Amino acid sequence: MLALSNIKKTFQNGEEIVTALNNVSIEVKENEFVAIMGSSGSGKSTLMNVLGCLDTPNSGVYKLGGNDVASMSDDELSKVRNKHIGFIFQTFHLLSKLDVVGNVKLPLRYSDVNDSEASKRANELIERVGLTHRKHHKPFEMSGGQRQRVAIARALINKPSVILADEPTGNLDSKTSNEIMDLLTELHHQGQTIVMVTHEDDIAKYAQRVIVMKDGEVIGEKND
Ligand SMILES: Nc1ncnc2c1ncn2[C@@H]1O[C@H](COP(=O)(O)OP(=O)(O)OP(=O)(O)O)[C@@H](O)[C@H]1O
Ligand SMILES: [Mg+2]
Repeated sequence: MLALSNIKKTFQNGEEIVTALNNVSIEVKENEFVAIMGSSGSGKSTLMNVLGCLDTPNSGVYKLGGNDVASMSDDELSKVRNKHIGFIFQTFHLLSKLDVVGNVKLPLRYSDVNDSEASKRANELIERVGLTHRKHHKPFEMSGGQRQRVAIARALINKPSVILADEPTGNLDSKTSNEIMDLLTELHHQGQTIVMVTHEDDIAKYAQRVIVMKDGEVIGEKND
């Protein structure tokens, strides 16, 4: 479903050129749950940004669902991103002015899904993540774990082919982290493909496959 081959990504930091991804080749199949680990600065977030079509590599080939991403126009790319990818971030990235329903519906704003269908889908997902009793609350009225549940519901609203989660439990205590991981595991069991970055072994254990990065390169892989 996702196939990177020989991906290179560099950044210009003043005079210096930083190689964030060096010759990275990774394949993620449908319904896999993959964790990406590695020390700070090893290129994990850069890799997620490439996978999520938020950033374009300098060289190499990225095929998403068989289509070469480099051959797509900006317009096509944003459509692909909207349709195929659900993002979850460490800091939730919710809009503070919107309540739970508003945040979950947000990705459908520029789609051809009408508002009543959007509300229906949002309410179903809010139920699925266990927040029906909170659906008219704003992010600041909720705990970190609840906010992350909102972000997960939002990530699911486009029925994405893959969920990309960059340290989804990075701002949560261990009990709440495990609850969020149980939810992601349940989604995986229902067929969802998930790629997740984490620093923690305990969190990586939830995945079937762990890819280890160092200095922009994939240096190892552990399978269940
Ligand atoms: N937009 C950018 N501009 C310049 N350099 C960048 C940019 N994004 C990333 N880098 C550099 O690329 C390298 C990889 O960064 P990246 O954010 O992918 O690491 P990471 O593995 O996600 O680290 P962390 O665990 O701290 O989140 C780092 O050296 C970083 O400084
Ligand atoms: Mg990062």
